[in-house]
Amino acid sequence: MNNPNLYSTANAMQKYDAKLLIDNYFNNIKWLPNGGDISLDIGCGDGGVTYEFLLNNMPNNAEKIIGTDISEQMIMYANEYYQHRKLKFEYLDISSKTLSEQFIGKFDHVFSLNCLHWVHDQRQAFQNIYDLLKSNGDMLVSYVASSPVFSIYETLSKLDKWKSYMLDYTKYICPYHNNLNTEEDLTKLLESIGFEVVICKCEKRQFVYKDLESWINFIKTVNPFLNRIPESNRNEYIDQFLEECKKHGVVVPNNVNVTKPYDELIVYAQKKI
Ligand SMILES: C[S@@+](CC[C@H](N)C(=O)[O-])C[C@H]1O[C@@H](n2cnc3c(N)ncnc32)[C@H](O)[C@@H]1O
Repeated sequence: MNNPNLYSTANAMQKYDAKLLIDNYFNNIKWLPNGGDISLDIGCGDGGVTYEFLLNNMPNNAEKIIGTDISEQMIMYANEYYQHRKLKFEYLDISSKTLSEQFIGKFDHVFSLNCLHWVHDQRQAFQNIYDLLKSNGDMLVSYVASSPVFSIYETLSKLDKWKSYMLDYTKYICPYHNNLNTEEDLTKLLESIGFEVVICKCEKRQFVYKDLESWINFIKTVNPFLNRIPESNRNEYIDQFLEECKKHGVVVPNNVNVTKPYDELIVYAQKKI
């Protein structure tokens, strides 16, 4: 995901999820009694959600938030468009086996919105989050567990026309996609790392894209395979993707109000040592 300009115009669903997280779960965060909190946002993308939803809802006496992303293009864009004395953006790959020393044990709160489904090695990602937190720090994350988009990747990856571009498609499907025990499995994983899990739940949601163009822009911005396909074939790929939508529960009536069902995972957990 390397196109911040397109992302910033096609992220209505991510902003909807961000609002639900703030409205329903942000009050769990254990802000420091005397302020000075240092927070981290993992997978900040274009920086809009870090700024609008996280920075704007932190207590006034919190010290700063660092937005991070694996994409240098996203970080450059975020640093240019979202400037504030309590905010900066830096590179971080949360799946890395070697975390940058400068970040270890430095954060009171770790947030991540609609990013962790991109990380296949969930244990490594959550171990890293644990290591990034200070003692008594907490984490609030939300990401897509199941989605018709993942099922469509699977279907298209089997077709002769597209399979050579999608050989690694499983990397881009959340490991909990279609898992019937996600809450139990993830809770066990987090506890085995050392987290005290307060909330781990999967919410059934649906988001309505206002028209077909918004839906197609969303597909383009999150689809990791499109850039590998020769430009002359991309429209055909999108058309086939749209065909599959109907078979996988995405409702596309008369090309307006495209409704996508999905399961969103919400986790709030603490590092109690
Ligand atoms: C859907 S965007 C979400 C952006 C933002 N949090 C929001 O809610 O609008 C997911 C972001 O996660 C980033 N990402 C994917 N894998 C990552 C990783 N291993 N470490 C850090 N960021 C990652 C992508 O580059 C992308 O910018």
